[in-house]
Amino acid sequence: MSIKGTVTLPGDKSLSHRALIFAAMSNGESQISNLSNGSDVISTRKCLEHCGIEIFDKEHTTFIRGGKFTDPIVDLNCGNSGTTTRLLLGLLAGKGINARFVGDKSLSSRPMDRVLDPLGKMGLKSKSNDGKLPISIFKSNLNGISHTSLIPSAQIKSAILLAGIEASGETSTTESILSRNHSEIMLKKLGATFSTNNLTNTISKSTLSPLINFNVPADPSTSSFFSTAAILLPNSSITLKNILLNPTRIGFYKIVNRMGATLVYLNEKLSFGEKVGSIKVISSKLKNIHISKNDVPGLIDELPLIALLATQAKGITEVRDAKELRFKECDRIKAICKNLINMGANIKELDDGFIIKGPTPLKAAKIKTYNDHRIAMTFAIAGLISNEDIELDNPDCVSISFPNFFQQLKRLKK
Ligand code: S3P
Repeated sequence: MSIKGTVTLPGDKSLSHRALIFAAMSNGESQISNLSNGSDVISTRKCLEHCGIEIFDKEHTTFIRGGKFTDPIVDLNCGNSGTTTRLLLGLLAGKGINARFVGDKSLSSRPMDRVLDPLGKMGLKSKSNDGKLPISIFKSNLNGISHTSLIPSAQIKSAILLAGIEASGETSTTESILSRNHSEIMLKKLGATFSTNNLTNTISKSTLSPLINFNVPADPSTSSFFSTAAILLPNSSITLKNILLNPTRIGFYKIVNRMGATLVYLNEKLSFGEKVGSIKVISSKLKNIHISKNDVPGLIDELPLIALLATQAKGITEVRDAKELRFKECDRIKAICKNLINMGANIKELDDGFIIKGPTPLKAAKIKTYNDHRIAMTFAIAGLISNEDIELDNPDCVSISFPNFFQQLKRLKK
């Protein structure tokens, strides 16, 4: 089997959340097209609507009337989405909204104190279940702080900046390694009183302009599943169109290129401050790689795929300093290791990553997805290189980020 063809994917998930949030905060009407159709972004949209923001669709465009936020009369259900929870905690804290946040079982076990602690220092009054959901926030006057985050996380940084837009004085946040910087790019574009100095971002009270005809470029994290299939299956060649190529998001492509994959970037341009372009990926022979601290933030969501690729690469691949994977939609270190061992891979679990010796043939197995979309899609791709069909215990969880994943994959199989 091989995969061949041209792929046009839905909009980037991180940018879609932010486009909706910044549009809601702006003074006026925004128009956004190609929003992610995954349920995570729908959670953000519904929460904003419950806070009084008018959002409607006409043909292929979503219209958002930004402005006044009101207290929601129902719980804000963030579903499975950490980005929805953490960014909206910052936004609504700044707006002085009283709200109660809830989520599904996975989200309710994830740490939110990383956002609640700095927001508390800004003056937010809140109540949580030991730093986890359900969380209630209460109208509070916020003051600026200077925050240093030990975890490089775009969600933490964005939550603090969103709160800082409404706080008195200056708010600054510093991280140790640059995480995805979409919030910063959008804040600059929309006219915030905002500056970046190396790894420190500073914001003060700002009025944002609406997003005029913003087209969300395709999701590089989603594209990586198809790219992995193209690299691993002989005689494959795919072109992924209009992909977001922000340097903080293409860690996967930088690493697979170092492992030996043949990639060609086409039609690169800037769109709304973000680099976009197409990527052509063809079948390639791979060698091992060492991944550590500085690499991790740029490919945090793609590490399950790196593990799969490493099983087919010659030599010993090590992934270290990636303990954050244990706090994602599931414990992804455990999910990767358990499923790859069942498929016959030579992998050793570490507290903060894994070591893989390749190449080893993979055999079909029953896959536990842990209801995690990225684990489900990774092992659907792993199934393509195993001798028989694999069985996923919950294939439907792909709808968190990419409802049409299986249809697109079927279309490309030759
Ligand atoms: C995201 C940031 C990352 C990433 C997540 C989306 C964002 O999480 O894993 O899928 O849109 O800001 P962390 O901030 O926890 O690293």
